[in-house]
Amino acid sequence: MEIKFRIFRFDPDVDAQPYYKEYFVQAQGNERVLDCLNRIKWTQDGTLGYRMSCAHGVCGSDAMRINGKCGLACQKLVKDFDSGEILVEPLPSFRPLKDLIVDMNPFFERVAQIRPYLIASDTPEKERLQSPEDRKKMDLAIRCILCACCSASCPVANRDDAFRGPAPLVQAFRRIFDSRDEEKLQRLDQLNNKEGVWSCVNHFECTRACPKEIPVTKCINLIKAEIKKTG
Ligand code: SF4
Ligand code: SF4
Ligand code: FES
Repeated sequence: MEIKFRIFRFDPDVDAQPYYKEYFVQAQGNERVLDCLNRIKWTQDGTLGYRMSCAHGVCGSDAMRINGKCGLACQKLVKDFDSGEILVEPLPSFRPLKDLIVDMNPFFERVAQIRPYLIASDTPEKERLQSPEDRKKMDLAIRCILCACCSASCPVANRDDAFRGPAPLVQAFRRIFDSRDEEKLQRLDQLNNKEGVWSCVNHFECTRACPKEIPVTKCINLIKAEIKKTG
């Protein structure tokens, strides 16, 4: 079948304004949007800019907005869009650098602020042991690939720059509920404000957008509950 793609284009070195360009692609229903972008780039327009790496939902680099919803181009199938027309745009509220490539630095800076790594004072000779029960407490967040689909979909983060957004909170969740981490209370304290968990108003857009099916809103609510529990 023939699919019409409308793709956001913007090269700040050349274009005064962003614009949309149309491309027509022959594709099977079970091909992915990423396959179509590759076909456009390789056979029609080598100037089209987008990120990709693994092509299998692992690296998180091809997050974009497809027909109004944030997702990974390597996970969205042509048959998911039965109108025969697919609109492709960069992640909303992220600064476009070129076409579908956005500036991810502010996002990763926010993630870095929550210290997304194990903090422990000792250096064991062997691995740090953790019981299966304790390991399970982190399960909800373990699959995060830092694609930013959740943060880009959050209406609160999009209008309030001070809010850290859901992805850093998912990263925080993973460490707060890690039995081996020694800074749980400091981590909860860091998020006990409007920049942290309390600006989240349960829109669930983040949860709907997550390509790894992480219950993002639930993670945030569990952090809220832990803050109340620990006082
Ligand atoms: S649940 Fe919270 S973080 Fe997720 S989209 Fe809604 S306000 Fe944003
Ligand atoms: S929680 Fe999901 S949507 Fe958000 S960054 Fe992680 S994988 Fe992406
Ligand atoms: S290209 Fe790696 S997640 Fe899609």
